[in-house]
Amino acid sequence: MNQELPERLIDESMRRVDGRKPDELRPIKIEVGVLSNADGSAYIEQGRNKILAAVYGPKEVHPRHLSLPDRALLRCRYHMAPFSVEERKSPAPSRREIELSKVIREALEPAIFLERYPRTAIDIFIEILQADGGTRCAGITVASLALADAGIPMRDLVVACAAGKVDGTIVLDLNDVEDKLGEADLPVAVMPSLNAVTLLQMDGLLTLEEFEQAINLAIDGCKRIYKLQKEALKAKYLAIKEEVEE
Ligand code: CDP
Repeated sequence: MNQELPERLIDESMRRVDGRKPDELRPIKIEVGVLSNADGSAYIEQGRNKILAAVYGPKEVHPRHLSLPDRALLRCRYHMAPFSVEERKSPAPSRREIELSKVIREALEPAIFLERYPRTAIDIFIEILQADGGTRCAGITVASLALADAGIPMRDLVVACAAGKVDGTIVLDLNDVEDKLGEADLPVAVMPSLNAVTLLQMDGLLTLEEFEQAINLAIDGCKRIYKLQKEALKAKYLAIKEEVEE
């Protein structure tokens, strides 16, 4: 993946470094139920990102003193494999991974009926196998599918996507180069059916007008990914149905 850094991020025909138009998502492939030993699991490829999510629970809390009397304890670990980035990453949790674990947990928490499972724990593991920008968003998208696959009741799926600014243009779903060389990055997570935002971050600078343009584009991207999430969930049950019928 040794990338030469490009001089320009948008060419004269408004194409980005990977050939996309400003409002285009990277190609996305999603599969639900990929691990047999987790209660729920899902896998996503979004451009060059490859991310696996596994969910355990609701289950007994260990250590017990962490259990909550009125709701389930939601725990989340975002972890990058040492081989997921160009420069080997130490397998020990970095400050960035600790922060992203918290941010992702907070983005997923509003969707889950935690109050139905007091004194239990729900654990979410997100493994970044290959990273190319926007892993927190793709991590949220795939973790919410793993939660649904575990049969955990949810108000809606959570789906995330970033928009940002590169070479003065507002673009959707930034890749690693655009994230690093661009002017701004705005990751957004939503529960589309409830019209609710559960994550909003911003790195860089945007005018108010650009911010509005970027957030609307990010939400539009989320809605497109939401359709793919639902298709992936249905595909799992169709496959089971076909198996049973055979
Ligand atoms: O992945 P996301 O955009 O949510 O988070 P980030 O902190 O903005 O990181 C952007 C990108 O930097 C990641 O997706 C990776 O491709 C890359 N990265 C890296 O190369 N080495 C690291 N130790 C961490 C991130």
